[in-house]
Amino acid sequence: MCDPAQLLENNRDWSAQKLLDDPTFFERLSGLNSPEFLWIGCSDSRVPANEIVGLEPGRVFVHRNVANQVAHTDLNCLSVAQYAVDVLKVKHIIITGHYDCGGVRAAMGGQHHGIVDNWIRSIRDTYMLHQNDLESMDEQQRMDRLCELNVIRQVDNICHTRIVQNAWERGDALTVHGWIYRLKDGVLHDLQVTKTSPQDVAPLYRVTNAEGCAWPPAS
Ligand code: CO
Repeated sequence: MCDPAQLLENNRDWSAQKLLDDPTFFERLSGLNSPEFLWIGCSDSRVPANEIVGLEPGRVFVHRNVANQVAHTDLNCLSVAQYAVDVLKVKHIIITGHYDCGGVRAAMGGQHHGIVDNWIRSIRDTYMLHQNDLESMDEQQRMDRLCELNVIRQVDNICHTRIVQNAWERGDALTVHGWIYRLKDGVLHDLQVTKTSPQDVAPLYRVTNAEGCAWPPAS
């Protein structure tokens, strides 16, 4: 077992090793906050963002929550996304889920877990949207597929925000990706749901002020 004092000691060793490898590492890093990637992932301790994509500190702006949700009422996630897109000017938003996600598993069960039940409720909605397909699968396939569908839904959710659509409207090159990580082999898979423009968004969710906007309808 590690106690917190051990963590502080590990940190001193890490800092010293970094300086040995590159004496200007922290100096450069502290003067630089221009990551190209916003990562929205699960809080699960087995899916550390920077590490699994081989990126040093400073390269990826990270938001994590239970089951990698993008809820349009979540000021935390929306604030991270807005800062990343409008201020840091990230080029890519990557929604990353993972197989065997405890949040997705809990959403598939009927057990009461406390306040987190509210948080994962939308995963139950996703299940119901795909109920027929999911219930034609065996249990493992169903779990895997719901983890994927959950990512795909969050890709849509982030694309439904003004944050992403404003960026596209002003001509920023912003791409939204949906990936999933397999805990068993450490490999990320692209779910091929990449979105790059308002044309990738269902008309009802387009919120642009530009001429020809789809909503609200002309009176
Ligand atoms: Co998870």
